[in-house]
Amino acid sequence: RGTKQNVIARYEANETMKTDYKVIHIPEIDSTNNYAQKLIDEQYDLCNSVIITDFQTLGKGSYNNHWESKRAENLTFSVILCPALEVSNQFYLSKIASLSLISYLESLSITAKIKWPNDILVENKKITGILIENSIIGSKISNSIIGIGLNINQKEFSLNPKATSLSILSGFEYNLKKELDTFLLHFKKFENNLNKKEFDFINKNYFLHLLGVNSYLRYKNKEKTFEAVIENIEENGKLVLKSKSGEIMKFGFKEVELIY
Ligand code: BTN
Repeated sequence: RGTKQNVIARYEANETMKTDYKVIHIPEIDSTNNYAQKLIDEQYDLCNSVIITDFQTLGKGSYNNHWESKRAENLTFSVILCPALEVSNQFYLSKIASLSLISYLESLSITAKIKWPNDILVENKKITGILIENSIIGSKISNSIIGIGLNINQKEFSLNPKATSLSILSGFEYNLKKELDTFLLHFKKFENNLNKKEFDFINKNYFLHLLGVNSYLRYKNKEKTFEAVIENIEENGKLVLKSKSGEIMKFGFKEVELIY
């Protein structure tokens, strides 16, 4: 039974390791997720590739938002996996993406939390966003485009005051290529866990790093705002909250929002 420290320690990536992802760099593109989808539609085999750009003209965030990222200051990329995963297990892709970011940040001595379903917060500010788009054939995921925006060197976020970056946190300038390579090592570790179907381990880690598991936080849905604690995350990714009066409430994506 591990504490937070030793569970994460199992995932310390060794800096001399290399991953086998094929990295494709495009100087400017509408969105790395869209470009990946376009290439897949044109029958390119992108399994185990990473598409990275210096600048997105139409970077997509969740909830139809725009993803703000200044040219060549941050990492904006998509990892494409062909995981042969049952659709019912698709939330595991979200979990491994979140955990790899937590583990990567931990390797830089930055403690981060997961805001359900997959935002990563440091000191209550968002440092990365994840947008996953899956293609499904039958009951299986044929392609998963895991889009990640990781704020690195940008110091001002005009559209989103609740954003942060590595540079804001540490004062340092980072080499983007090196940070991508390091991140991918952490991602590979968790991808391996998923390929080996180590679901319990992934679940345990995800829950351990989730914000709002041990404390009552404020949420809002269409009708009201309320305080609740996270009771569980269902296998399909649904959030189960418990109010102070003991009422159990279940929410799908976009049905509830944490106020932070
Ligand atoms: C969010 O709003 O939290 C999700 C943001 C996801 C942004 C990344 S940047 C690379 C990839 N391409 C996109 O257009 N979006 C994702």
